[in-house]
Amino acid sequence: MRKDKPSRTAYKVALNVVTLGAKSGMDRFLPPGIVQATEKLLVASGAVGARTIRWSRSQRMVSVYEAFDWMLPGQFEAFAHRKAFCERQVREGIGEGATQILVLGAGYDTMGWRLAPEFSCVNFFEIDHPATARLKAKGIDAMGLRDNLFLIAEDLGKRKLVDVLNSNESWDKSARTVIIAEGLVMYLPPEAVRDLFCQCAVIAGVGSRIAFTYIPTGADGRPDAGRWTGLMLCLQKVIGEPWIWSIRPEELSPFLAETGWANALALAGTTGKHGVEFYAVATKKNLQHEKQGRAENMQR
Ligand SMILES: C[S@@+](CC[C@H](N)C(=O)[O-])C[C@H]1O[C@@H](n2cnc3c(N)ncnc32)[C@H](O)[C@@H]1O
Repeated sequence: MRKDKPSRTAYKVALNVVTLGAKSGMDRFLPPGIVQATEKLLVASGAVGARTIRWSRSQRMVSVYEAFDWMLPGQFEAFAHRKAFCERQVREGIGEGATQILVLGAGYDTMGWRLAPEFSCVNFFEIDHPATARLKAKGIDAMGLRDNLFLIAEDLGKRKLVDVLNSNESWDKSARTVIIAEGLVMYLPPEAVRDLFCQCAVIAGVGSRIAFTYIPTGADGRPDAGRWTGLMLCLQKVIGEPWIWSIRPEELSPFLAETGWANALALAGTTGKHGVEFYAVATKKNLQHEKQGRAENMQR
């Protein structure tokens, strides 16, 4: 991605959320308060003006997004399902005892800001590329800081996640954690994705989960965006944020196992495709437990 400019795709996701707020029936899926918080954040950060928000809220804009669904069927509404999926993972994880939430490549996502007061004993961390994170920090500053929300500006392509979090005194690597990587991994090189999952397993405690979305690999080996894949890949390149990682759903379990995670299909609660993406959840493998099991088997 273009390192010096705020992310265009993060901006697009946020505006899409605002327009979804104007589409009838979407309130059944969108997390409560997300539309209003996103509007506030976009304006307070200076990412857009009030006029753009008014335009994004209009029925005309709903029709524009719906018209673009010919290219990526279901993609407009998919952002509502994606946001709901991530928030459900965080709420379920907290219900099971997670005390730390980490959102990677957070963009203009407002989950941390919205949930931090409700879960005052949970620490929320967000990491994004400095160009985007700084703009967001300005917005959060204006909207009202949260004591338990930590915004970290880092390029994860330049500095390792392990180092970033180890140098943050509020981070507890033994804590049960929910990690969210929403709309992120397709923008990272293959070796960086593998490394990121390995590092996530190191920085989070027993019982942690990672929830993420991914684009499947097509028969031709490219990320599969359906009929208009070629055009989509070209457009992503032009805006400077190309899709460079994808995986076949059947290859996901072995990939996760190699990086310290176990695919948790039951936790994901969905196996279908939403727009161009699949949603997945994995739980941190208990290596100690596995080692002990192997030793016991050898003794038998
Ligand atoms: C498609 S946006 C998704 C934003 C957010 N997760 C959402 O769904 O609303 C991808 C985000 O990943 C961030 N990102 C991409 N490469 C990154 C890197 N190397 N380090 C940190 N953040 C990165 C971008 O800045 C952008 O905010």
